[in-house]
Amino acid sequence: MNPDPGTGPSTATVSDEPDELLALAVRAARAAGAELMRRYGHIEGLETKSTATDPVSDADKAAEQLLSDLITTARPDDAMIGEEGTDRSGTSGLTWVVDPLDGTVNYLYQLANFSVSVACEDAQGGLVGVVLDPVADRLFSAVRGGGATRLDPSGTTSLRVSDPVPLDRALLATGFGYDAGRRALQGEFVAALLPRIRDIRRFGGAALDLCAVAAGAVDGYFEEGINHWDHAAGGLIVQEAGGLMTHFAPTGHERGWLAAGPSLHAEMAAFAAAPR
Ligand code: IPD
Ligand code: CA
Repeated sequence: MNPDPGTGPSTATVSDEPDELLALAVRAARAAGAELMRRYGHIEGLETKSTATDPVSDADKAAEQLLSDLITTARPDDAMIGEEGTDRSGTSGLTWVVDPLDGTVNYLYQLANFSVSVACEDAQGGLVGVVLDPVADRLFSAVRGGGATRLDPSGTTSLRVSDPVPLDRALLATGFGYDAGRRALQGEFVAALLPRIRDIRRFGGAALDLCAVAAGAVDGYFEEGINHWDHAAGGLIVQEAGGLMTHFAPTGHERGWLAAGPSLHAEMAAFAAAPR
């Protein structure tokens, strides 16, 4: 189906048909993305969260409010969690997992490469995932069992991870947490990995990193310490593009993930398990 049926406001409720949930996710992501672009370059209400380098501003909060309002109007019985504090229980069995602005530091510095991430999950996991890059007007989306696509001004493209890619030819994206101790451990692992691979990229947004894996723009992505809203939509998009998305904790963090095509995924898992 066309994942982009329009962006106008609606007060109608929508059914739990995956295509309707996808259309709602797209509409909400587009509204949040427009709000981010309206505020881009003139940050207000800048504060910090977990550490002095973990920023949040009125833009993140306004975008999350829009996501919450739009989705709740259409799906009042669904649960929702969001990076900026939305935490609502529901009765339908569906949970929306949203990051209104993933790549906050890029946004703050007026670098491109930030996104709005919207996922809807059921008891089996990811059902629908949408990641919108509002600067490049790229919309990544997936429905469980339906494949993954990118819609941009040049048209719609089906996504496929690169596979097979040997470890010593792999271009890998990663990210680093906001906590100094965590970053030190992540740096040690990257230092051990770097001589064994083609190269590392640090783009600054986990959701778009995952979409880059899905599109074959990088061969894999790993990061420890990311949150559910960072990877809920992008993880489904990777899997629907033929990739594997599993827990990965080379330095022992409980929230670590690895996304890659099957052959590279196996090589990365073996590398992480081997003594260093
Ligand atoms: C962060 C970004 C970053 C990743 C961090 C995340 P935020 O999310 O996804 O790339 O390395 O772990 O916390 O703070 O920009 O929403
Ligand atoms: Ca995030």
